Amino acid sequence: MSSTQHTPLPYYEDVSPGSGGLPPRAWSPASDAARLSLTGTWAFRLSPTATAEDDSFARPGHDARGWDEIPVPGHWVLHGHGAPIYTNVRYPFPVDPPRVPTENPTGDHLRVFDLPADWPEGGDAVLRFEGVESCARVWLNGEELGTFKGSRLPHEFAVGAVGELLRRRGNVLAVRVHQWSSGSYLEDQDQWWLPGIFREVVLEHRPEGSLSDFFVHASYDHITGEGTLRIDADPGGRVTVPELGLDLATGESATVAVEPWSAETPRLYEAELTTVGESVGLRVGFRTVAVEDGLLRVNGRRVLFRGVNRHEFHPEYGRALDLATMRRDLVLMKRHNVNAVRTSHYPPHPAFLGLCDELGLWVIDECDLETHGFAGLDWRGNPVDDPRWTPALLDRAARMVERDKNHPSIVMWSLGNECGTGRGLSAMADWVRERDPSRVIHYEGDLSCADTDVYSRMYAPHDEVDRIGQRSEPPWGDPELDRKRRALPFIQCEYAHAMGNGPGGLSEYQRLFEAHERCQGGFVWEWIDHGFARRAPDGRVFYAYGGDFGEELHDGNFVCDGLLFPDRTPSPGLIEYKKVIEPVRIEGDGAAGTVRITNHHDVTDLSHLVFSWTYEAEGEVVGSGELTVPPLAPGESADLKLPAPAATEPGDETGWTIEARLATATAWAEAGHPVAWGQLPAVGRAQRPRALASGGAAARRDGDRIVLGPGVFDAATGALTALGGLAVTGPRLDIWRAPTDNDNGASWQPDERYGLIWRRLGLHRVRHRVDAVEAADGALTVRTRVAPAATDLGLETVYRWTTDGDRLSLSVSVTPRGQWTCPLPRLGLRLGVPAALGDAEWFGGGPGEAYPDTRAASRLGRWALSVDDLQTPYVRPQENGARADVRWVRLTAPDGTGLRVEGAPPFWFTARRWTTEQLDAAEHTPDLVASADTVWVNLDHGQHGIGSQSCGPGVLEPHHLVAGPAAFAFTFARVG
Ligand code: GAL
Repeated sequence: MSSTQHTPLPYYEDVSPGSGGLPPRAWSPASDAARLSLTGTWAFRLSPTATAEDDSFARPGHDARGWDEIPVPGHWVLHGHGAPIYTNVRYPFPVDPPRVPTENPTGDHLRVFDLPADWPEGGDAVLRFEGVESCARVWLNGEELGTFKGSRLPHEFAVGAVGELLRRRGNVLAVRVHQWSSGSYLEDQDQWWLPGIFREVVLEHRPEGSLSDFFVHASYDHITGEGTLRIDADPGGRVTVPELGLDLATGESATVAVEPWSAETPRLYEAELTTVGESVGLRVGFRTVAVEDGLLRVNGRRVLFRGVNRHEFHPEYGRALDLATMRRDLVLMKRHNVNAVRTSHYPPHPAFLGLCDELGLWVIDECDLETHGFAGLDWRGNPVDDPRWTPALLDRAARMVERDKNHPSIVMWSLGNECGTGRGLSAMADWVRERDPSRVIHYEGDLSCADTDVYSRMYAPHDEVDRIGQRSEPPWGDPELDRKRRALPFIQCEYAHAMGNGPGGLSEYQRLFEAHERCQGGFVWEWIDHGFARRAPDGRVFYAYGGDFGEELHDGNFVCDGLLFPDRTPSPGLIEYKKVIEPVRIEGDGAAGTVRITNHHDVTDLSHLVFSWTYEAEGEVVGSGELTVPPLAPGESADLKLPAPAATEPGDETGWTIEARLATATAWAEAGHPVAWGQLPAVGRAQRPRALASGGAAARRDGDRIVLGPGVFDAATGALTALGGLAVTGPRLDIWRAPTDNDNGASWQPDERYGLIWRRLGLHRVRHRVDAVEAADGALTVRTRVAPAATDLGLETVYRWTTDGDRLSLSVSVTPRGQWTCPLPRLGLRLGVPAALGDAEWFGGGPGEAYPDTRAASRLGRWALSVDDLQTPYVRPQENGARADVRWVRLTAPDGTGLRVEGAPPFWFTARRWTTEQLDAAEHTPDLVASADTVWVNLDHGQHGIGSQSCGPGVLEPHHLVAGPAAFAFTFARVG
């Protein structure tokens, strides 16, 4: 310890895990022992330091009338006392382990309770805390029970029988909670610091002869199709599994034919474990996890994780989650083809794991341990390499494993996250392996894999994953360990950083996971944005992030990096992920009328799905029917013939859409829920001329205007001012986009951070110099040079307008000048149209947004959305809302009048009620104020990709928007 003080440290600062508690044990919600929930309203008092108040409040009779009230479970900072703090890696206090600041918000909690009338007379009781951040001291009826640390872990105290410490009426439970403790050094996860009693408090009866612990061992032999069950219990008793006809003693094993458990087939058998004093209902899933031949197998099969990292988060209640929210998370995961969850970075509420068993998810259960803030100190003083902390680490490992060991969904134990390396971690691994050899050990922070059974990485770029897939990754040093590691299966415990718009590059990762059997998938970072719901003065809800609570140190919106928005609406990233990881691949040759269906499930055949086809012309369905697909086994493909297509108009663009849907309802979706789809173009889009032939009408000068067909132009600037009577702010070249979090990248990224480079170059403030406005040969030609100040970079841009009398067409050519060393954000036109044109209908990719490397889920069709609904409300506003491959778009007012734009080639369409500059300046969604006059439309020839550089690799080369010569055209027509 670096401290020089001599008096012993108080309990909240010493390195011990606590005192006075019971050893951890397995826990089941379905015991017949009496149980009293102590959730509800408690009396609450907040003090600024740990010692500001003495402990007299714990004595019965203390007058707490002046206290506030607080809900338990809850975090006091979300109930009007103090404020949350967000830091990613940095400790928000001086690093002087195990000491904490004198300013240590301390919440005293009081609850008076009676036992229910039917509470049994004999037998002990225990008081159980499911989660308290970060350190608690507990008294019952004035008597101290003990102290504990380990926020996301359970802690229990024996309170004896009624008549001893426990009374029938008027029990006084007092809990003092300190925000900061030595435990805080072990809990430096990237999340909000949220003190409080945030999970349930329960009084549980422990009758004579009740279970102090039990361990369900239920394996599956995929060769024989038999499962073997043995339940060890203390004290012993009997186990029955009626469905299997089993009735055996604890400690005895039985082998019978069973259906195995998997994430795809979460088959559970109801069982009962009975001892003299207690009966516990269990749900047993039979499965065997093993690393064999360098692969992670469950029940003999390689599995591919299509995973997410899930923090517990609710936009109002923080980590105090209710059961409905837990279920909602899992239902959303299942509906989006997610099959695995890493409980980053701590054991979740125990009920969540029960739901994983039931609904079917592979789980990496992670210990509540992270010491990342020591990284900035070159890991000096890192608790995981200091033997004085080892008891605390082992205590955490045991509390996780003992509580959660009976869940079939858990296939890996994770020692923690981002702690560097150290002897304490090895001690944890040794203990876990000894206690539960039936699962695999995970820890990402030690690249040597000395203690682990899988090679796990975060944010490894695609090319590195490719090398790892070939088991030819570069050595780390020790040849022995390198050999061992190369023989291990590989996962990305975090990849594809879903911060803001993105992540890009998912499809390319998935192809690698499918190409190399060693690559067993990954877990997107992360499931949900941790933004707290707040109201703007005008009443609009927005989501607050780091810095919004006056924190001295914070990491801004890095806490909003999920596939769900804080209110659990799926973001475009989740829609994309669902498509990329779909367990059925649908490919083929639409022109030849053939389709290839491949089953990418790990376990199930395709008999649970029904397939259908539609045939579309110009995006409209002209034929549809069922498609009979054989019940292919995992890994199998079939080539099928599609029916003869319906006749369509010559020149129509046609294609097939094939869909796979659930044949029957499941626990997580209705029958008909879409699982996978594919589109196969049949007849391609007829070549459109780049522009209308000139000569439909001649350009004529009319005062300071030029008139060309339906178009009116400013004679001095050549800018279009009206089209068929519709006022427009002329389309002109636009290369700026409001940088995304991924454009801006992260400080530690080696790649180029284009968001910053673009701004440094001044791409957000280019000027348009008009060199010539020429009316000749039935065309109006406007020559310009578009460039930012202080550089010789520029884009020579020529606009050539022609008309057929009714419509206007515009060909644009762009020639870069100077040495462009970075890609462009976007390349296209921006135009302003009257605000009344608030409805968009288009033929192109949709319905959601897409960018070059996030376009797998963009589906060709006819779509309609209002301009307001085209927006994606990223918590920190940034570029969003582009639609890909748009052939044409109509923007109309409620009376049906408006504008139609057709592109040659297809283009990216974006429309919003504010400018890109306003979007760029906004920090929260209420900063975006709709213009009363204008809808701003971008018609882009190109967009730069999105990538994942806010914490991962940048945009892959093929998705760069390189500054090069470009030519594109649009035809504009009035509608209505
Ligand atoms: C990882 C870390 C996560 C999160 C992520 C970035 O390094 O394990 O907790 O911080 O980066 O969002």
